[in-house]
Amino acid sequence: MAPVIQSFFDTATNTVTYLVHDPATRKAAVIDPVLDFEPKAARLSTVSAQAVLAAIREQNLDLLYVLETHAHADHLSAADHIRCETGAKIVIGASIVQVQKAFGDLFEADDVAEGESFFDILIEEGESLPLGELTIDVLHTPGHTPACVTYRIADAAFVGDTLFMPDYGTARADFPGGDAASLYRSIHRILDLPPETRLFVGHDYLPEGRNAYAWETTVAEERAGNRHVHDGIGEEEFVAMRQARDATLAAPTLILPSLQVNIRAGGLPEASRKGRVFLKLPVNAI
Ligand SMILES: [Fe+2]
Repeated sequence: MAPVIQSFFDTATNTVTYLVHDPATRKAAVIDPVLDFEPKAARLSTVSAQAVLAAIREQNLDLLYVLETHAHADHLSAADHIRCETGAKIVIGASIVQVQKAFGDLFEADDVAEGESFFDILIEEGESLPLGELTIDVLHTPGHTPACVTYRIADAAFVGDTLFMPDYGTARADFPGGDAASLYRSIHRILDLPPETRLFVGHDYLPEGRNAYAWETTVAEERAGNRHVHDGIGEEEFVAMRQARDATLAAPTLILPSLQVNIRAGGLPEASRKGRVFLKLPVNAI
């Protein structure tokens, strides 16, 4: 049976959050939820997450998991908020510990450095999780970050930032631990899935020539027309293109707030003795 998939698009960060459920049992998972953050005033809100939580309640779904495709650098995660509201378990690729180590050091985040996990399930290549009568299969698809995973549920695969829509291409591979050659190989693992597999991407940036956001495509469409990795483009050619393009890209606006929250599964650093929560801006550090 095919899962039921609902999408929530955040125009502030161009992120797509998915709510997936098994129609037979109503067991559900949320993928890549957004915690709203207004950077000028460092103001957090849960408006985006509330829309997802309302959909869960209205459909009487039993939320088992919050699935993170990776530690995002362009938006804050609402995983911890959704866990608090529902009791769902937060799942992320096991290589997140590398990302936590790198950014725990950068931010001198003692709680992270001391090895607190913050996540509930660290999942490895080839492992799976039950979702009612459906199964969530995991592919480790590093490249954009070392911990990126793709979640495959029946004929649908949630690829995070490993692939974007065919007319936009692929994600950058220049974050710490990112690697364009690994990204190419990960993409090809996804493109080796059956051609009719539905692919759900993590962002859409409305490329020139298109006037509506889109986030669902197929393996066949990506192979025929992805501007960066359609059939016939070899690893060397891809790596050269990706590295040249990445050299021109500025850091994402929310990279510093995002990473220090997302290595804590969307939780905040501990409050100060006066009860205030601070995020750090390490100077000249990235
Ligand atoms: Fe990302």
